[in-house]
Amino acid sequence: MALSRAQTSTGESVHCSTFASRYVRTALPRFRMPEQSIPKEAAYQIINDELMLDGNPRLNLASFVTTWMEPECDKLIQASINKNYVDMDEYPVTTELQNRCVNMIAHLFNAPIGDDETAVGVGTVGSSEAIMLAGLAFKRKWQNKMRAAGKPFDKPNIVTGANVQVCWEKFARYFEVELKEVKLSEGYYVMDPAKAVEMVDENTICVAAILGSTLNGEFEDVKMLNDLLTAKNAETGWDTPIHVDAASGGFIAPFLYPELEWDFRLPLVKSINVSGHKYGLVYAGVGWVVWRSKEDLPEELIFHINYLGADQPTFTLNFSKGSSQIIAQYYQLIRLGFEGYKDVMENCRDNAAVLREGIEKMGRFDVVSKDSGVPLVAFALKDSSRYTVFEVAESLRRYGWIVPAYTMPADAEHVAVMRVVIREDFSRGLAERLIADLGKTVSEMDAHAAKHHAGGEHHKKTEREIEQEVTTFWRRMVAKKKSSLVC
Ligand SMILES: Cc1ncc(COP(=O)(O)O)c(C=O)c1O
Repeated sequence: MALSRAQTSTGESVHCSTFASRYVRTALPRFRMPEQSIPKEAAYQIINDELMLDGNPRLNLASFVTTWMEPECDKLIQASINKNYVDMDEYPVTTELQNRCVNMIAHLFNAPIGDDETAVGVGTVGSSEAIMLAGLAFKRKWQNKMRAAGKPFDKPNIVTGANVQVCWEKFARYFEVELKEVKLSEGYYVMDPAKAVEMVDENTICVAAILGSTLNGEFEDVKMLNDLLTAKNAETGWDTPIHVDAASGGFIAPFLYPELEWDFRLPLVKSINVSGHKYGLVYAGVGWVVWRSKEDLPEELIFHINYLGADQPTFTLNFSKGSSQIIAQYYQLIRLGFEGYKDVMENCRDNAAVLREGIEKMGRFDVVSKDSGVPLVAFALKDSSRYTVFEVAESLRRYGWIVPAYTMPADAEHVAVMRVVIREDFSRGLAERLIADLGKTVSEMDAHAAKHHAGGEHHKKTEREIEQEVTTFWRRMVAKKKSSLVC
């Protein structure tokens, strides 16, 4: 079943484009496998020509995911592209590199690991898989506890902020756990720890805090959550734990905010996920989940297989996967070391500050991201009566910039923002260029709006009309997304 639909293509055939016509002149069927083979040069050229219409990843400011690595690492990736990670007995060195990564990351997150102990964790495809695994561990632990106490264990729930990334909703739906979301409010776009703790009951398998909200990059207050939950646990006799979704922040906080307590230094934090492919600085396809200790990962979730050689414990959703990303993560950890990651993160923070300042100076936007947190700038129009951030984002595309615009979740959905993620490859020069292009875009849109106004076409929209427009736009987007799916 193909879940996604191409938006731009029409017709039944793929016509051989520019250079491929040197090799083939016949059109290829679009949705059926061609009857005949074609020369390898033709296949390459056809696909390469068609892909040219994709956006430029370096100008994709919507994504946290790494778009540039050093050529030496590209070489390692290419060399290991044919290794299936799951064949651990055949590729013991790759397995060893994964274990080293898990241990390095666990130490970075201050896991209480004794000198003769190894960390408990696993490499995943990304934070989504990592979160599914952590969630399953919490669910199973809670079920075991309830069963042993002779209590019902069929209605587990998880408490999060309404700002959680879609993977938490997926976890809840796929694995039948009720998602209890703390609502947001205008000006407060992360989970309020006090409200979260209020929502905890005996069926809560964990509270999930985010270190680096997807919407505005803000770090949630995990320390406060830990303290409030400790008090509630003491009062009720429950032992509700915390998971930290550090998809972005896990590779930022240790370098920029080493004093901030958000990790295993807090006793209730039992597991943490991080995306290797975000600020871990690896191309798409790697994440990590680390548990505080062996006791936090129920043994019955671990499968032992022996048909590939020796006994291999596995706890992942998928079986086969590539090895390249694991090797690339190891490359980054040893190549950059603590010092190198710190330099990269400081540079990102400084470039975010330049961009933030430039946007604020325009006087047209309210910045809703914080100075600390994930290096990104999220901003809303001060006045959306003549055009919206959706139109600004659309206009910016003419300059090649891909900047997402979206509305905040419940109960702040009337606030619409744009967000620019600052990655390692987003230089200060690019920040200055973006400020200039954004300034030009806004001036053009002002002039356009003024012309319409002079022509008598403009009427000042009421707040209600603006809200309705944003809601309609968003509904249409969601409906379109739902029909074309997928992530
Ligand atoms: C806070 C948060 N959690 C989880 C995810 C999902 O991460 P991944 O894309 O690595 O699966 C994201 C992705 O942006 C995120 O921002």
